[in-house]
Amino acid sequence: MARVKFVAGNWKMNTNKAQAVELAKGVVDGAKSITGVEIGVAAPFVYLDAVGQVVNGTNVLLGAQDAYFENNGAFTGEISVAMLKDLGVKFCLTGHSERRHVIGETPELVGKKAAAIYGNGLILVHCVGEKLEERDANKTLDVVKAQIDELDNKLIDDPARLVIAYEPVWAIGTGRTATDEQAQEVHAFIREYLGKKWNTQFAEQVRIQYGGSMKPENARGLMSQKDVDGGLIGGAALKADSFLKIVEAGK
Ligand code: 13P
Repeated sequence: MARVKFVAGNWKMNTNKAQAVELAKGVVDGAKSITGVEIGVAAPFVYLDAVGQVVNGTNVLLGAQDAYFENNGAFTGEISVAMLKDLGVKFCLTGHSERRHVIGETPELVGKKAAAIYGNGLILVHCVGEKLEERDANKTLDVVKAQIDELDNKLIDDPARLVIAYEPVWAIGTGRTATDEQAQEVHAFIREYLGKKWNTQFAEQVRIQYGGSMKPENARGLMSQKDVDGGLIGGAALKADSFLKIVEAGK
């Protein structure tokens, strides 16, 4: 069975409330006529309610950029998966490089969050990717493998609710994109490793998104690679028209 591509915007810490609602409306309008691609927007926590009121019930999935692993309790400032579900959130990121390398999340914390997101019924978008010095030292595949190993293969049993986002850190927000071949090489490795960790039938169904300076000009080339099943888009997702062009490229 062919994998349906999944193109999601990661708005990061951008927009104000009015801009978030406006952007969501633009995406929903443009997405109405698009079939054959799954579409999502990961809005900042504080705008999830407002954005959810625009996208829920449409073909645009509401996403969150993070979640804490406990359900409730004395965890000042944190947001649980149950709270996200209450607002209609359907997917949630973990392990984004900004959370790993800017905020300082450890692999252990990322793994706990991944288990909570998946275990509570959301689509888990688990981000992996190497830093430039790791690529230069030929450690890309080792880094990606270790990050996939943060996932509990005894818990995660539905390939439809697992998405891996390969985001080379050196390509995020830099304008420097992985070439189609560089992306495909790592994506093929990821699928092969998922096959070893779960089984090949499971691995064949998992979507592997590419992220890192994806834009309308390079989206088609990247997404036409055999193992590139969509994109996780930062900067280019902050304008509905450029985001929708990338979505179209995934058809
Ligand atoms: P850019 O598209 O801005 O490079 O960001 C990619 C990203 O980090 C998506 O999660």
